[in-house]
Amino acid sequence: KKVVLAYSGGLDTSVILKWLQTTYRCEVVTFTADLGQGEELGPARDKALLLGIKPENIFIDDLRETFVKDFVFPMFRANALYEGCYLLGTSIARPLISQRQIEIAEAVGADAVAHGATGKGNDQVRFEIGYYALKPDIKIIAPWREWELTSRTALIAFAEQHQIPIAKDKRGESPFSVDANLLHSSSEGKILEEPWDAPDEMVWQRTVSPMDAPDAVTEITVEFERGDAVGINGERMSPATLLTRLNALGKENGIGRLDLVENRFVGMKSRGCYETPGGTILHTAHRAMESITLDREAAHLKDSLMPRYAEIIYNGFWFSPERRMLQALIDESQHSVSGTVRLKLYKGNCIVTGRQSPNSLYSMKHVTFEDDQGAYDQFDAQGFIKLNALRLRLGAMAGRRGGAL
Ligand code: ARG
Ligand code: SIN
Repeated sequence: KKVVLAYSGGLDTSVILKWLQTTYRCEVVTFTADLGQGEELGPARDKALLLGIKPENIFIDDLRETFVKDFVFPMFRANALYEGCYLLGTSIARPLISQRQIEIAEAVGADAVAHGATGKGNDQVRFEIGYYALKPDIKIIAPWREWELTSRTALIAFAEQHQIPIAKDKRGESPFSVDANLLHSSSEGKILEEPWDAPDEMVWQRTVSPMDAPDAVTEITVEFERGDAVGINGERMSPATLLTRLNALGKENGIGRLDLVENRFVGMKSRGCYETPGGTILHTAHRAMESITLDREAAHLKDSLMPRYAEIIYNGFWFSPERRMLQALIDESQHSVSGTVRLKLYKGNCIVTGRQSPNSLYSMKHVTFEDDQGAYDQFDAQGFIKLNALRLRLGAMAGRRGGAL
């Protein structure tokens, strides 16, 4: 009877809105979130009203602070990278959208939710696993998997038939699919599908080309407390403000472009072009902060779990016991990850030049090449090495030299 639609205000979700009204004959509630995608939300409200949605059924939320504080930052404590390079910019936004959508469904007494992801991608999985984890009896409507509007022509015809306004630039096929939020912009599909073809420069929307970036170095410091960034250049700011600021710094210096082929959860490989300017700086800075504040085995253990944690988020299992278990371990590791990292931003590079912390485990006294005045007894190393080598020596004596099996 009532469905909450994740509504961007764009042509596709407007068609979905009308389609839900005409096909399912249900009352539609729209939910539009500001996750820092850089679009005004006013037009989404106007369009929803125009399409006959009652004012009390239009929900518009600025979720930027929650997004960064409760989703991006916890993920960055883990240094999460999917398949070695993807900072999970789209993946981490989906559970928040699901969560808010379910909250609204409960508030308005809706029995169904709908989203505009296709039946081929990861996003459908992430949205729906989130819905089910939070409201196990929810009905899910995924129009792209159901309807007959499979071509652009059919979609436009439906829009015209139902007086849905179509922006001039939306009449034609857009050259690739974009998803954006405060953490990243992703572009994939269509002209980007041939993985050998270099992306056109117009694909990159939130960074200048490293080749056009200033010839001068930008030097910054990032301050951390318990694993989270809390300031830039000594100025404290909120999580979303901080990420916005890092995005601007990264943009100017051409930082955070990525062109990759990744394995989707549903099975196929897909090529994407992502821009994560602020996130790339944050990732680099966080690792540097951990380098002096984490115990070696703590660092290595968390590193060994990172690919698993990243995969859990990529596959859409943010609201799962395994993610919460790993999160508890990661958060526990961050108690001493406080201090300052200095970086140089220069033509696509983000180079650490210094790190300091009141909790530093770095001991100049122990590591120095100069006389350490007895802090470390070099004689201890002899037995340490000999015992570590013992099994290899026994192997070699048994005829298996050099680790031969
Ligand atoms: N491939 C990336 C991911 O799975 C980005 C998805 C982008 N989504 C989109 N609707 N264009 O996380
Ligand atoms: C989609 O299919 O809706 C976008 C791509 C993805 O979800 O992986």
